[in-house]
Amino acid sequence: VVAAGPVQDLVGTRVVVTAGGTREPLDPVRFLGNRSSGRQGIAIAEAAAARGADVVLIAAHLEVPPPGGVELREVSTALEMQDAAAAASADADVIVMAAAVADYRPVEVSEGKIKKDDRGDSMTLELVRNPDILAGLAAAKRDGQLVVGFAAETETDRARQLELGRSKIARKGADLLVLNRVGWNEGFATERNEITVLDSTADIVLEFAGSKVSVAHRILDVIAERL
Ligand code: CTP
Ligand code: CA
Repeated sequence: VVAAGPVQDLVGTRVVVTAGGTREPLDPVRFLGNRSSGRQGIAIAEAAAARGADVVLIAAHLEVPPPGGVELREVSTALEMQDAAAAASADADVIVMAAAVADYRPVEVSEGKIKKDDRGDSMTLELVRNPDILAGLAAAKRDGQLVVGFAAETETDRARQLELGRSKIARKGADLLVLNRVGWNEGFATERNEITVLDSTADIVLEFAGSKVSVAHRILDVIAERL
């Protein structure tokens, strides 16, 4: 008896997924971070593996345990994620950038703990822009490789959100962009997600709301039909 599982439509496909949120250190005990839990990226990695793909999961500070059946590569900062993504993408068919990458990192990382007495009543942090990993991967894309980005926006107006997504996919050069709304209580620690997927011509190819697992499978359906 063969147990009924998901359709094995990704056998032989190499999929790289980034998930979680990078942390940019300030000193040995502090960092700049974000509220990404890693759940949506984990769901995509797990669903891809269940459909037969060979999956590398590049994970930054996941709040939930990673799935079994995938190769886990743990990173912390955006620069570490960039290195891991470049290495893993060399022989990848699909790259999914679900991670929340810090846009900026502190210019200086203090060797010792930053002390209040050295700083006074206010302090200013100088930050420098991190490289855009997704744009770099898209620019270096091989023939047949599919590069998928995510865009989490706090914009509530639907038309304005689509406009942001359209300019973002054009700017990044990705093949697909998964748009979702985030807010103080939306998007991150939740089990559900509501997404719109745009292709490189900025057409809407999928609108879907459901659990992060069902969202993962619908995104993989779109990916599978384009491979
Ligand atoms: N991303 C990346 N490297 C960065 C920043 C973002 O690879 N340094 C990726 C994210 O993993 C995501 C996509 O780019 O797949 C969009 O991220 P987002 O933060 O929405 O876009 P930004 O280009 O950073 O624009 P902004 O934050 O100003 O909206
Ligand atoms: Ca950003």
